Amino acid sequence: MSVRVFVPIDAAALSVGAQQVADAVAAEAARRGLAITLVRNGSRGLFWLEPLVEVETPAGRVAYGPVAAADVPGLFDADFLAGGAHALTLGPTEEIEYLKRQERLTFVRCGIVDPLSVDDYRAHGGWKGLETALKLSGAEIVEQVTQSGLRGRGGAGFPTGIKWRTVLNAPAAQKYVVCNADEGDSGTFADRMLMEGDPFSLIEGMAIAGVAVGATEGYVYIRSEYPHAFRTFSRAIELAEAAGFLGASVMGSGKAFRLEARLGAGAYICGEETSLLESLEGKRGLVRFKPPLPAIQGLFGKPTIVNNLVSLATVPVIFEKGWEFYRDFGMGRSRGTLPIQLAGNVKRGGLVERAFGITLRELIEDYGGGTASGRPFRAVQVGGPLGAYFPESLLDTPLDYEAFTAVKGMVGHGGVVVFDDRVDLAEQARFAMEFCAIESCGKCTPCRIGSTRGVEVIERIIAGQDRAKNLELLDDLCTLMLDGSLCALGGLTPYPVLSALQHFPDDFDRPVAAPPARAAE
Ligand SMILES: Cc1cc2nc3c(=O)[nH]c(=O)nc-3n(C[C@H](O)[C@H](O)[C@H](O)COP(=O)(O)O)c2cc1C
Ligand code: SF4
Repeated sequence: MSVRVFVPIDAAALSVGAQQVADAVAAEAARRGLAITLVRNGSRGLFWLEPLVEVETPAGRVAYGPVAAADVPGLFDADFLAGGAHALTLGPTEEIEYLKRQERLTFVRCGIVDPLSVDDYRAHGGWKGLETALKLSGAEIVEQVTQSGLRGRGGAGFPTGIKWRTVLNAPAAQKYVVCNADEGDSGTFADRMLMEGDPFSLIEGMAIAGVAVGATEGYVYIRSEYPHAFRTFSRAIELAEAAGFLGASVMGSGKAFRLEARLGAGAYICGEETSLLESLEGKRGLVRFKPPLPAIQGLFGKPTIVNNLVSLATVPVIFEKGWEFYRDFGMGRSRGTLPIQLAGNVKRGGLVERAFGITLRELIEDYGGGTASGRPFRAVQVGGPLGAYFPESLLDTPLDYEAFTAVKGMVGHGGVVVFDDRVDLAEQARFAMEFCAIESCGKCTPCRIGSTRGVEVIERIIAGQDRAKNLELLDDLCTLMLDGSLCALGGLTPYPVLSALQHFPDDFDRPVAAPPARAAE
């Protein structure tokens, strides 16, 4: 009997040698005359254990990792195809604490299925949501998404159902669904993992969105730095189309929905929804004035749903298991689960999907295992490069949109980047301003000019020049950027800057002669 062996083809696993491991497993099995079926799955998101090799045994899947190509003969000697003991044995995959204590709804199949098998996807609950949604009217689909409490995972946490309702009610002969897979935030990889590990979940979610609002075409805007994701996802579209889940008649319903993957332009601002639409139309990624909202006049001036990838890939489970099931996870007005991306100076970085409400401390200490360097924790930045820096005293803040707003932070796309005590927060503040200056689309003055002046002011503070006066000036400039910027790039840049000032004032007040080590890049 052919044993199934899983070696991830996810970019994170490939970056630490998964391809060499897969080649070694195939070669060693052939040399020994053993029949195996090599499955190139997505990552389970336990990055410190990659390449994580799994073997399917009668008792379930058994994991080994991190495996190097040189370990492969030894694994065969230890009879790993039957789950045999070896120094790299991690035991049953599902029993690994990091994974066991998660609540995976959006990522439920990621790392488990063959990403490019329509049937494997079906065998793990796939296509059921679409099947259910196709029996409902557009208004009913939208109502159930609204009731589920799903909010956009791309940044602002805007209710997905309300956005969809606006598109549904906008009269037009042509409407679109656009998936934002630009994923520009620091320390984030959830979108990429899904495209590489469970691409059909996005296809299913987008088809449900299209059917709901009467959009017959969809686009997925994938950041250009994700060649593996682009390749896998493009192939998944072809397979879904061949199997009748996309095309002129989705699952034989007579409703059309076609999908196309497009490579992004390589600028952070192209993740902002209106700029993304400009880019999709073949123009420079310049932010549009709002109103009109993209839901009314979006792609090519037509009503358009623009959602983050995780938001869309979460939709199938709402219809597979029911909106009540989804709504019952979470806290307050943050319903369901959040795929959190744990990165930076942390021992066990990876993907943790938990219901909203988990605290930063649980994440960093229980899942992350503290800093990778072993040095004391100093700061954590949540929500990408425009998110606030939190000190130790705020680690008990629960992951919840409102709780984060209350402490002047944001959940964003769920990226959590940890820093040890060598971080210099004044330098990080300068970096935030510089990032804005580099990535600004240039359309409005507070962001275009303000960020450049901001870098200069922070540099003067760091150099100890007229510190009090420059701190006042910086505060003024931040208020102006907050209030006067056209989009959230300029409007959010003050968050990392002001949080650094508020929580780490000493870093702005150090002796001129002794600048601490830099960790901004
Ligand atoms: C500068 C900037 C960059 C952004 N980058 C992304 C991104 O990479 N991915 C994303 O989904 N949303 C990004 N957003 C948010 C989008 O504008 C938009 O709100 C989101 O795609 C809507 O989807 P959602 O409702 O599902 O969150 C960005 C916003 C700004 C201001
Ligand atoms: S805030 Fe910056 S990125 Fe946004 S529109 Fe203004 S110049 Fe462009």
